[in-house]
Amino acid sequence: MNLRRELESRIHDALVAAGAPADSPALIVPSARPQFGDYQANGVMSAAKRMKINPRELAGKTQQFLKLDDLARKVEIAGPGFLNIHLRDEWVAAQVAGLQDDPRLGVAAASEPQKVVVDYSAPNLAKEMHVGHLRSTIIGDAMARVLGFLGHNVIRQNHVGDWGTQFGMLIAYMESSSSDASAPIGDLEDFYRQAKKKFDEDAAFADLARAYVVRLQGGDKDVLAKWKVFLEKSLAHCQAVYDRLGALLTEADIRGESAYNADLPVVVEDLGKQGLLKESQGALCVFLPEFVGKDGAPLPLIVRKSDEGFLYATTDLAAIRYRVKSLDAKRILYVVDARQSLHFRQVFAVARKAGFAGDDVSLEHVAFGTMMGEDGKPFKTRTGGTVKLMDLLDEAQRKAYDLVTDKNPELDEELRRRIARAVGVGAVKYADLSQNRTSDYVFSWEKMLSLDGNTAPYMQYAYARIRSIFRKGLDQAGGQSGGVKITLESPAERSLCLKILQLPETLEVAAGESLPNMLCAYLYELAGAFMSFYENCPVLQSPEPLRSSRLSLCRITAEILKTSLGLLGIEVVEQM
Ligand code: ARG
Repeated sequence: MNLRRELESRIHDALVAAGAPADSPALIVPSARPQFGDYQANGVMSAAKRMKINPRELAGKTQQFLKLDDLARKVEIAGPGFLNIHLRDEWVAAQVAGLQDDPRLGVAAASEPQKVVVDYSAPNLAKEMHVGHLRSTIIGDAMARVLGFLGHNVIRQNHVGDWGTQFGMLIAYMESSSSDASAPIGDLEDFYRQAKKKFDEDAAFADLARAYVVRLQGGDKDVLAKWKVFLEKSLAHCQAVYDRLGALLTEADIRGESAYNADLPVVVEDLGKQGLLKESQGALCVFLPEFVGKDGAPLPLIVRKSDEGFLYATTDLAAIRYRVKSLDAKRILYVVDARQSLHFRQVFAVARKAGFAGDDVSLEHVAFGTMMGEDGKPFKTRTGGTVKLMDLLDEAQRKAYDLVTDKNPELDEELRRRIARAVGVGAVKYADLSQNRTSDYVFSWEKMLSLDGNTAPYMQYAYARIRSIFRKGLDQAGGQSGGVKITLESPAERSLCLKILQLPETLEVAAGESLPNMLCAYLYELAGAFMSFYENCPVLQSPEPLRSSRLSLCRITAEILKTSLGLLGIEVVEQM
């Protein structure tokens, strides 16, 4: 059950019964301190303001109409008109007991599943994937997993940059540098750099490259075949990164810029038919009144250049149309760098204006900040180059290996390597996901690999520690997995139970606002609640039936950690 939503609906009903307008939300939030109860309703004050009556009076009336006896032992009016809700211990215990054989851990599947497109990763295939694509891949993948778990129909779209003038240069270089064009390109980054160097230094080569661009864009079969060879190599590299990261993306999710080529003139024509186009210095543009530059001059969205070439924006308009009309998406998430926010605001506005996306479709730029180095500048290698993802992940794994070896030297080598993989990749992902995505974040090995704090190793360790209780406890009684009555004896036990019940409402917010950090924050609180429970409440040493009840809490906590880390794309390990 989604506890917060249940309270929201019951208090809302009471508010309305007490005379508040039908659209008055109860505004339920978890209470900041135990003396204020478990949850508080903040909506009475604003409803009273709209009704022009005294909030405490409305609170009193709401209380009279409120039907909450099954859940709450007490609802108090506090301050100017807050309602503090104290849940019943028996109710909390019974709810938690009900999770013992619920694989969904209380999380209901969406009553109205949505078709959601998640556009993420989307590297430019001319170059190697770098840290700039790391955030998109990690955040997008977590969103795809969370939405899928909630029962939505998720369609992943990897809008790779596979078209444009660089490809002419790369094909020309591929031709000239190797007698066998199918030989693998060892290092895409080097390959690009060398091609660029040759392009800048060698006029004949530059001409050849330009000729290839023209032929490529003209649909020349021979050049297209060569382009495909290059793409396959580049995509294989991306796939290797995805596999290594444990991202869900596969070849089937790729629908690159080139897929929209044929549709671009049609998009422009459609815009023209609707009278949305204006010529400016030979280029075709859409001007919308809500977009003006700093100087107050109207800001165009250019859809066709003066040389008749199409642009990034044109492709995005075509992609929206495809996603809405062909994929039937009702929600489209663009997990893309915040620096592209103007681009998306313009593209969304034009798509709406042109009728490519109706009011029933939500278009959302899931923007994220820049990954910074500890020096406060955008993350680079020591020599100032771009950091390759594979190198980064190798380093993460090496450092995690040292950490595990340090902590648990007696584990065998092979096992330590396996743990290091989960912890290393997990640390990189969690460090990213645990930050509010909208801000820049500082990439720090030391912080992300710390065993205390809101980190992957801390969560993975918490999980492993709970699992070790079972290795000790399972041979004796109390190992059953369902039907145990839950007893709330100590306050730490009660706090843990309340946290356990908050997974559904957490996922609802994380999914609705595309904020995976909400799930991380929740896990951190859950792990904290577990640690204090574990310090205060003996588990294996307790007499029955307390022992079984406590073992059950351990098991449910472990399941939530495992499932939630899984939703973040992070593996757990049984030992650490
Ligand atoms: N390839 C682009 C880049 O690397 C990101 C594409 C994002 N998706 C989109 N539909 N524009 O910046």
